[in-house]
Amino acid sequence: MKFFLDTANLTEIRTAQEMGILDGVTTNPTLVSRESFESFHSLVHEICEVVDGPVSAEVTATDFEGMMSEARTLAALAENVVIKVPMIPEGVKAIRACFNEGIRTNCTLVFSANQALIAAKAGATLVSPFIGRLDDVGEIGMDLIRQIVMIYDNYGFDTEVLVASVRHPAHVTESALAGADVVTMPFGVFQKLTKHPLTDIGLASFLKDWEKVTNGKE
Ligand code: G3P
Repeated sequence: MKFFLDTANLTEIRTAQEMGILDGVTTNPTLVSRESFESFHSLVHEICEVVDGPVSAEVTATDFEGMMSEARTLAALAENVVIKVPMIPEGVKAIRACFNEGIRTNCTLVFSANQALIAAKAGATLVSPFIGRLDDVGEIGMDLIRQIVMIYDNYGFDTEVLVASVRHPAHVTESALAGADVVTMPFGVFQKLTKHPLTDIGLASFLKDWEKVTNGKE
């Protein structure tokens, strides 16, 4: 399963990249609004230089022509740009048109299995079901992931399931168990993945005992 970071923060992206296990980045207008930068395009370009894998940048137009114009401009910024397009009828048209032009897309704001089915039929490279936001309204976000994985498997769709709106490490584990292709997570969740209190206690104990071995010998 691929690990993406869900952020537009270059410091976070560089830190994760240095660990050597970062497979890509997703951004959205809200995440971008939290950062300071010269221009949106310069920020996307810079992220694409840090990360080897796909970097999702979202269109903000809601009409087909506007989406296509933004998609073409963003796609020209770097080879690893993926265009994030909302799951609305105009977005479906744009995903299909991007597919025909060889532009990769990430269909975002997906909250149902039928929306994911449509995204795949339109030719989206990635589909982004928002599981945390479903949990927030009393649904089980992970159930949706399991449904989409099964549906894509049933019909052999190439579209990759990218679990989005991830809130905690258990979402990552559950995504792996469900067979999701990608999980995109906030930096805080990414950091927590390596942590376990028994690891810290065990390491402290090993180092303390090692002091007895080396004491007076160096
Ligand atoms: O980038 C899309 C998604 O991951 C947003 O998550 O936490 O705003 O629901 P969240």
